[in-house]
Amino acid sequence: MNKLCVANWKMNPSSQKEAEEIASATDKRGVVVCPPFVFLETVRKTIKEASMGAQNCSAEEKGSYTGEVSPFMLGSMGCEYVILGHSERRDHFGENSLQVARKASLAQKAGLVPLICVGEKEESSKEEKEKEIESFLKEQIETSLKGVDPEGVILAYEPIFAIGSGNPCPPELARKRKEFIKSVAPLSLLYGGSVNKENASSYLFESGFEGLLVGGASLHPEEFCQIAKNVQ
Ligand code: PGA
Repeated sequence: MNKLCVANWKMNPSSQKEAEEIASATDKRGVVVCPPFVFLETVRKTIKEASMGAQNCSAEEKGSYTGEVSPFMLGSMGCEYVILGHSERRDHFGENSLQVARKASLAQKAGLVPLICVGEKEESSKEEKEKEIESFLKEQIETSLKGVDPEGVILAYEPIFAIGSGNPCPPELARKRKEFIKSVAPLSLLYGGSVNKENASSYLFESGFEGLLVGGASLHPEEFCQIAKNVQ
């Protein structure tokens, strides 16, 4: 797999005009732009080099599920990827790993590549916590992958303490987690959590991740383009 730099815009920006400006300024090869659903069409029309993804999808194909968006709809809009199981969805919307697995296998049927997020809450490299963190990650990974075809799936390691906190995971700890995750599921693996232009290369070259999942910095084209340079 080529290295990917995934832009997770979360629930931003506030207008279509801004969405168009950000998409146009971050349109690079190796970049996957993941806007809110309502901006997919704007992004699709704007990008030429980048790919597009969504931030969530339904576990149902179609029908009476008010407010839901099917992965088949996303495919027809030009999405190639879908972020699933982001910790914000697990925390704020009560998504569990089994639901993530159901969404991921339906997304694969719709021809999308699921990008499944996993990660522990607390920052710790203390010996006594290690076993606990590893068994948490193992369970989360195995359950989120139930029934999912390993061929077309990407994992993202996003330690929760590092997300949107400006407290990125130390690259040595990220490397250790990467090795553990790969021992559970030998799949392509991205790092996410307070990635910025200063630390991006360390996750790719010191920790050995196959790409980055970028939240806050993905809304700032100049910074994001510097981050994305590392994966090209
Ligand atoms: P952050 O978010 O880069 O703002 O920490 C990453 C993510 O939530 O995917």
